[in-house]
Amino acid sequence: MSKYLESMDEEDIRRFRRLLLNWYDQNKRPLPWRETQDPYKIWISEIMSQQTQVATVIPYYERFIRELPTIQDLAQVEDRQLMELWQGLGYYSRARNLKIAANQIVDDFDGQMPTTMKQLLTLRGIGPYTAAAIGSMAFGLVEPALDGNLFRVTARLFEIDADISKQKNRKIFVDVLYQLIDPERPGDFNQALMDLGATIMTPANSRPEDSPLVDYDLSYRNQTVEDYPVKKSRTRQTTHSLLAYFVYREDGKWLMRKHGSDELLSDLWHLPLIEKDLVIEAATASELLEPLEEWLTASFDQVAIDSLELARPGILTLDVDPGAHLPTQIRHIFSHRIWNVQIIPVKFQGQLDLEDSQAAADNYWHSHADFDRLPISTLQSKLFAEIFQFEEE
Ligand code: ADE
Repeated sequence: MSKYLESMDEEDIRRFRRLLLNWYDQNKRPLPWRETQDPYKIWISEIMSQQTQVATVIPYYERFIRELPTIQDLAQVEDRQLMELWQGLGYYSRARNLKIAANQIVDDFDGQMPTTMKQLLTLRGIGPYTAAAIGSMAFGLVEPALDGNLFRVTARLFEIDADISKQKNRKIFVDVLYQLIDPERPGDFNQALMDLGATIMTPANSRPEDSPLVDYDLSYRNQTVEDYPVKKSRTRQTTHSLLAYFVYREDGKWLMRKHGSDELLSDLWHLPLIEKDLVIEAATASELLEPLEEWLTASFDQVAIDSLELARPGILTLDVDPGAHLPTQIRHIFSHRIWNVQIIPVKFQGQLDLEDSQAAADNYWHSHADFDRLPISTLQSKLFAEIFQFEEE
């Protein structure tokens, strides 16, 4: 018995389950994946819900399931279609891992979603949380699905002061939840705690007085809600300065590159993006153009540059004081990094050899006409929103 549950006897635990599940039955959020037992659909919904609000996920989930209704469809999907289905959700490695895992299921499990924790954990992208979520919801496994929400809810209910950022403390929470979880309805029990964490026992502005578990909530009783969960070692965010080059030609086409499979945000199309610390307003034209020239030379077999000029797209060539005419910086938060990205419009005259280099296949000139088809990252969408607005001024 966990020391945190010493004050609860068997009858208390049964009442705890009953209060929570009754509340869930009457208040549960209507989510499309709650109407299915299909482990494939539950899996997709769980992966999409990582790092992403449930309300954002719903339309993506529905389209994904419509276009790829089975594990076999996912295993065979073209990368391009997969990226299009994920476009806007971010953290694209989740999508790539889904396809890899679908192929594992085809190869190792006869195309059927495996049904034990041990087997689920062999699949790419499935860790203890996701395995427990799928196992409990689809197969009735009595496994607590401990994510950030459940850490918070459990820490507050029982005043558990173990640091949740320390991996070794996970077991303390799992042990408490193993004793509480309803063996008849483990999937609903997990989802009830998730909903409680998302709607009542929230990170800020929580309303513990409205919780069905108010009688069991020690941090509410002792007015220590703000102290839980305990999270000491925060990963520090680092700030990076990047230059995004909007390199365009006379005919209005601009240069984009598809990131390789070994790069961040792989398989998505990007403006040349180069990390560089410059005080933009004070930089000279050559300081702004040099990183691009280096990049062009390194990326293409043959480069013949007649001219590279800083410019307002299509309108104005800038010789002095470039900063005054450049679009604003874009700030993008990317896991533990803050990126400040400066867009540099550049007018290009010359030749890039696109015919017979390896780079050729992945570097293209694009126009408005084909742009909508390209899978791009959230950051790139922000950059283009800025560029296109700027062009129209
Ligand atoms: N977050 C992730 N999965 C969820 C689910 N099944 N219900 C509520 N919130 C969730």
